Amino acid sequence: MLSVVHSPVVVRAPSKVNLHLSVGDLRDDGYHELTTVFQALSLSDEISVVPSQGLRVNVKGADATKVPTDERNLVWKAAVLLADSVGREPLVEITIDKGIPVAGGMAGGSSDAAATLVALDAMWKLDLSRSELTDLAAKLGSDVPFVLHGGTAVGTGRGEKLLPVLSRNTFHWVLALAKGGLQTPAVFGELDELRSKGSPPRIGAPDALMQALASGDAHALAPLLGNDLQAAATSLLPQLRRTLRAGVAAGALAGIVSGSGPTCAFLCADADTAVSVSAELSGAGVCRTVRVASGPVPGARVVTSESIG
Ligand code: C5P
Repeated sequence: MLSVVHSPVVVRAPSKVNLHLSVGDLRDDGYHELTTVFQALSLSDEISVVPSQGLRVNVKGADATKVPTDERNLVWKAAVLLADSVGREPLVEITIDKGIPVAGGMAGGSSDAAATLVALDAMWKLDLSRSELTDLAAKLGSDVPFVLHGGTAVGTGRGEKLLPVLSRNTFHWVLALAKGGLQTPAVFGELDELRSKGSPPRIGAPDALMQALASGDAHALAPLLGNDLQAAATSLLPQLRRTLRAGVAAGALAGIVSGSGPTCAFLCADADTAVSVSAELSGAGVCRTVRVASGPVPGARVVTSESIG
């Protein structure tokens, strides 16, 4: 008798940086209206999925101990949501291999959730359309649709309504992972607080930034990077100002808080400069650890999938 051995379905999903993040008004549902330009970065997580008797989540890699393995994990929620939507039980064991900093403002949890949707779609041979997967992704979190699609895109609404953006060339980044942590809702709340007391400058519309992306010129792009959440993130974690200054002093074209932080992202002129900036930043004692990445890269995609009969 031939027994079926299931090799895992392995899916890789990218992290993201917001090249532009303008925050509008607080909506009645507790979310803020956004206009954001995302870029998917090569720093990625891999998840592998095999059939199992029940739903189980394991985490390995950097910061694994900081990630819950129960129903609080977005991967768990993604498996339950997808299974429910197609009338199945989520009988799967999911292992997350973390490369993306946990709670860093780089969409790590969102990336794992997007990867889970893609992996289960492949394993269960559901053949869901991109738009069906995107609708499920949006229910899991504002950034999940973007890391599903990857590339460079403009997001509106909560950030979940996407349109692709023309981007030429590969851009080179250095990511400085902070010593402290920041929670996304707290950072949005701090921005509301700062705005209620005064008017921190707003970054405006991303038109010029989109032109710089189309030209593929990192020098043109650098001065146009902007994030309305940066004032709030640096207000809650003032050490980020020192990190931002240190990256530029080390030779980056510009530095920005990534999303709600606390990771700082530095755009560099080329790959060699990114390596030298990362070496200098590591030695400067202004952050926990440093990574080099490039973008844009594709969204969540299967990298290995086979069943041996
Ligand atoms: O959608 P997600 O779960 O990633 O959002 C986390 C939190 O970030 C929300 O509960 C909300 O406090 C804040 N947020 C927001 N406006 C957005 C996206 C997120 O206020 N557009």
